[in-house]
Amino acid sequence: MQTDQKLDTPKVNPLNNLEEWEDDLLRRYPEAGQPTRKQEEYRNYENPERDTVREFYRLNHRYQTYDFVREKEREFLQFNKKEMSVWNALEYLNTLIDDSDPDTDLDQLQHLMQTSEAIRADGHPDWFVLTGFLHDLGKVLCLFGEPQWAVVGDTFPVGCQFSDKIVYPEFFADNPDTYDEQYNTKYGVYEPGCGLRKVHMSWGHDEYLYQMLKDYLPEPALYMIRYHSFYAQHREHAYEHLLDDHDREMFAWVNKFNPYDLYSKCPTPPDVARLKPYYEDLIAKYLPATLKL
Ligand SMILES: [Fe+2]
Ligand SMILES: [Fe+2]
Repeated sequence: MQTDQKLDTPKVNPLNNLEEWEDDLLRRYPEAGQPTRKQEEYRNYENPERDTVREFYRLNHRYQTYDFVREKEREFLQFNKKEMSVWNALEYLNTLIDDSDPDTDLDQLQHLMQTSEAIRADGHPDWFVLTGFLHDLGKVLCLFGEPQWAVVGDTFPVGCQFSDKIVYPEFFADNPDTYDEQYNTKYGVYEPGCGLRKVHMSWGHDEYLYQMLKDYLPEPALYMIRYHSFYAQHREHAYEHLLDDHDREMFAWVNKFNPYDLYSKCPTPPDVARLKPYYEDLIAKYLPATLKL
């Protein structure tokens, strides 16, 4: 049922910058060989950075309902808002940097380039390198005034029971779908093993970019983009019951991608000017001259 009513959702942005979510992922999933944080340390509410992340997830889990996701799909998947080259979109994305925050050492473009350069250094195919370079481009949603909780954060299926393997599962107590019997059973509106292509994911930069690029990149690249924040599956395996064989095959690529996203941060920023020609050629090989946002 189509409604023109705007959903009543808050435009509050608890995170000082989008990286706070990614830094928190590193706390939750430290690199192998790094000391694992104890649960108490992880739930350190005295730590102000943890508080902003917690508040962020409180909003995310409260407002990402099945209806909200369907509404955002209708709003953004027409791609009729803007048209620009990939490079301009990346620069546009970079206006997200918060200069007032002394802890932000890398901007969005630098995170993307470190990810893709790490992939390139390991000798992977060029479409994989390009995927690393583009994977967070969907964050341009922020520049359309979307709140952080509808752009970043772990993603999860809506329309069926929320898994307790999702970070801060207790906040789903505030989500009306938790009490809606259409949506609160193991399969909800889906069939067993139906395949993730039939499943609506919580709304954010992953789904948005996947839909934007789906005609241009190979299937493994599209899985990496679409599910890179779906930690409840690629790390916790909480939604095996919705996957089909094709998903299981493709998730090997999502797993391959994830360490590059999480662990490629290094203190020396990449030399963007020197690398730009390489990436311009790569973009031109796979993508049209302008993208529709
Ligand atoms: Fe991302
Ligand atoms: Fe990323």
